[in-house]
Parts: sequence; C-alpha cells; structure tokens
Amino acid sequence: MVEKLTWSKKLSVNNREIDEQHKTFFFIINDLINARRDGANEAAVLTILSRMLAYAGYHFVTEEAYMVENDYPFFQSHVKEHQSYNLKLKKLIDEYQNDPTKLSSDMLWFLRNWWIDHINTSDMHFAKFIARKTHIK
Ligand SMILES: [Fe+2]
Repeated sequence: MVEKLTWSKKLSVNNREIDEQHKTFFFIINDLINARRDGANEAAVLTILSRMLAYAGYHFVTEEAYMVENDYPFFQSHVKEHQSYNLKLKKLIDEYQNDPTKLSSDMLWFLRNWWIDHINTSDMHFAKFIARKTHIK
C-alpha cells in the first residue's frame, strides 16, 4: 500500500505560491494512488498522469522564474533535477501506455518520494537562500 502524501508546515518554503503548487501536486499524486487502489481504468489513470506532467511544467516554470529573478547560484543544478523528473515521468507514462498493467507501486513510491526529497532538500535550499538574502537587505 503506497502511503499518501500529506502536506505539513515543515514542508513550507515560505512562498505561498510555491507552497500552494506543492499542495496541488500532493493532491494529484494522491489521486493516482487512489486510482490504483480502486482499479481505475486506463483512461482515468492517463488523465491523472497527463495532469501531473502538465502541472509539473507549470510549477517548474514558476519556481525557476523566482530563481532567475533572485540570481540563485544553484539554478542550473536545480533545473537539472526538474528536467530529470520530467524525463522520468514521461518514461513512466510511456511504459504505462505500452502496458497498462504497469501502474506499479514502485512508480507511485518514486513519484511521492521524489517530491518529498526535492522539497526537503533542493527547494528548501533555495528557500534558505532567499531568507538570507532578505535578511541582508
Ligand atoms: Fe524545485
């Protein structure tokens, strides 16, 4: 059983817009976890997966714009993480389309853990950078 995601204040990056987007991601991933649990059909699962891909694009653009605006020195490596997530997600969608029995728990664990790790390490790193910058001003 794949554990659902719950957003908590500990995951806040002190940016309301980004926090709200992260919460939306959690909803989408939880939808996918529910879909798998309920044996949803292929079309329903693909709808959730494509929503996830589209929302990732939108969210990463928002985050990266903040980074550019603030001359974040780790911008490139952060963007690489976003890109590798997108590639992985696309690969998972392809795999699912080729074999719809393949909505594995591994895939769901990957998606949920990626977000937790990414927010806790990379997004938090940026949040701390902003906090220091604002403090220095
Ligand atoms: Fe990020």
